[in-house]
Amino acid sequence: MPRPRPTLPTRVPFAASALVTAIIIACLVASMALAPRGAIRPASPVAAAAQTLPLLIEGAAPASTTSSDEATTASDEPAVAPDAEPLAASRVNCAIAKCVALTFDDGPGLHTARLLNSLKASNTKATFFVLGTATTTRPAVVRRAAAEGHVVASHGWDHKQFTRLSAAAQRDQIRRTASAVVRAGAPAPTLFRPPYGSYNTATRSLGLPVILWNVDPLDWKYRSAPTVTRKVMEQVRPGSIVLLHDIHGSTVDAVPGIIRQLKARGYTLVTVPELLGSPQPGRVYSRR
Ligand code: NI
Repeated sequence: MPRPRPTLPTRVPFAASALVTAIIIACLVASMALAPRGAIRPASPVAAAAQTLPLLIEGAAPASTTSSDEATTASDEPAVAPDAEPLAASRVNCAIAKCVALTFDDGPGLHTARLLNSLKASNTKATFFVLGTATTTRPAVVRRAAAEGHVVASHGWDHKQFTRLSAAAQRDQIRRTASAVVRAGAPAPTLFRPPYGSYNTATRSLGLPVILWNVDPLDWKYRSAPTVTRKVMEQVRPGSIVLLHDIHGSTVDAVPGIIRQLKARGYTLVTVPELLGSPQPGRVYSRR
């Protein structure tokens, strides 16, 4: 009888080892494919660090917060454009980067759509402190600003000086403006800038952080793009909040140049929430 072919026993281990090798390779390939997901995780502590920025805080400890205004307007809040909120959270770490926030008050106005075009062209996000009355006149512009990743904040209903209003009248200004913004299709404002920067204890009890500024080129007075640009560049420093008004064509003309020069000096342009981390209701964020 012929002996069993001697090759068979040697082939079986070979086939088995080939199978084991194939399994090992498959495992390696699978683990490499999964690796990038794990690699994203270390970024989140860095993003969390941005929330502990030392910043521009003046005034006493927060007054007791009255969130009832927010609660009533938040209930009928419409769906937000998907890219509006995530951007505010962790696009940049301002504890490391040289950040500056451009803010635009008193709009929306005739020139605001043009401003949104400029901001889009330079991929810049800004913060708009809108008036309730102007929002009612141009709701589509407010909706567009929010949809394009800008922060829509409150400047009150009709530019009244808050220190001359009762606490109830101040609350009414905030409530009416929030409803106008929500009706326009943007999220309810979570930041407030009082007209003329004028506030009192009642203002700090409205349930919103009070956001002032520390760069003021007086653009309402100097209706000249080169002058406004020069004054911004003279005053700006890391952590600045720049006060501008999108109701003036000259200011809107100045914005592309301001953005270009800020970037050339190494600044990162951010929204106010990005700059401040998590501004607290009742606190005043202001000039140093
Ligand atoms: Ni104003």
